[in-house]
Amino acid sequence: MVSKSTYSTFDDLASIYLGDFKKVVQYWDAPTTIISDGPYGIGGFPGDPETPAGLGEWYEPHIKIWSKKSSPVTTLWFWNTELGWATVHPFLEANDWEFVNCHIWNKGKAHIAGNANTKTLRKLPVVTEVCVQYVKKAKFEVDGNQLSMQDWLRYEWQRTGLPLTKTNEACGVKNAATRKYFTKCHLWYFPPADAFEKLSDYANTYGDPSGKPYFSVNGKTPLSKSQWEHMRAKFKCPFGVTNVWDYPPLNGKERLKNGFKALHLNQKPLKLMRLIIEMSSEEGDVIWEPFGGLCSGSVAAYKVGRKSFAAEINEDIYKQAVKRIAHNAMQPTLNF
Ligand SMILES: C[S@@+](CC[C@H](N)C(=O)[O-])C[C@H]1O[C@@H](n2cnc3c(N)ncnc32)[C@H](O)[C@@H]1O
Repeated sequence: MVSKSTYSTFDDLASIYLGDFKKVVQYWDAPTTIISDGPYGIGGFPGDPETPAGLGEWYEPHIKIWSKKSSPVTTLWFWNTELGWATVHPFLEANDWEFVNCHIWNKGKAHIAGNANTKTLRKLPVVTEVCVQYVKKAKFEVDGNQLSMQDWLRYEWQRTGLPLTKTNEACGVKNAATRKYFTKCHLWYFPPADAFEKLSDYANTYGDPSGKPYFSVNGKTPLSKSQWEHMRAKFKCPFGVTNVWDYPPLNGKERLKNGFKALHLNQKPLKLMRLIIEMSSEEGDVIWEPFGGLCSGSVAAYKVGRKSFAAEINEDIYKQAVKRIAHNAMQPTLNF
């Protein structure tokens, strides 16, 4: 067990652990959303390497844990600089994280106001960070091989001995099932749960009796509609939001300070944290913040009814984060 002094929890919803993520993660529930805002390779805080070289190797043990503890419903949001992300991307791919989209946080000119001398600068001022969306690919084991979902659907149908065109009859469509769900090409679509259920029912009714059950992962029962829904990451697309997030750098009341000095240079806006949480999870789902800092992700998660787990290795910052969540927990109606 973790001793009381090394973790704090609020209403059993938000838990913050003092220590290295790799050690404290054993106490965390499985994640629906992971918000990684760790080292950038710019020497930004103690432990952040001075350059992005070696950043991939730094992240690798963390990524392996994310992969092990996640399921196909999990979304990973990876915050970093452009070069930091490019350096870490191959390590994410190698550990089954599939790239979905790159979001640009454009902080605007306010970020460099009065701070950019064009006479000496040798490049344009940078006012962006990226927040990159990845999902955990579903894999299906067949005779010791790992198949992608696209390949597994075809494989299972072929096992039935039925012609592929029968998938259209199963779904009650003219040709959409073969064209969308059973194509080999990049135009493949994930079959919605209703379509999957129809395919599975058809295969298990008319398919070769010796190969039953079809569309099963345990060899005993076909996947149910709700199990199928958990085979891909949650995503709710908000209206009017694109992959460029114009949002000013944190100032004003939200920026936590000690006198005039920011408590943490990397404090993220609650609005952006809320956006990524609400796009990729539902009420009651679990949010991870392995590199907590002031735990902006956990604060946002708390406010929108998610359960969160955060780790922060630096004791002073940990204490500030705990204070922040306690303050927010006492003001449940506070808007942001
Ligand atoms: C970029 S900051 C996070 C800022 C945070 N998103 C916020 O809004 O306040 C990264 C934090 O991760 C912490 N950290 C670095 N390595 C860690 C590890 N292995 N386990 C836990 N915390 C770690 C650092 O001390 C730092 O405060």
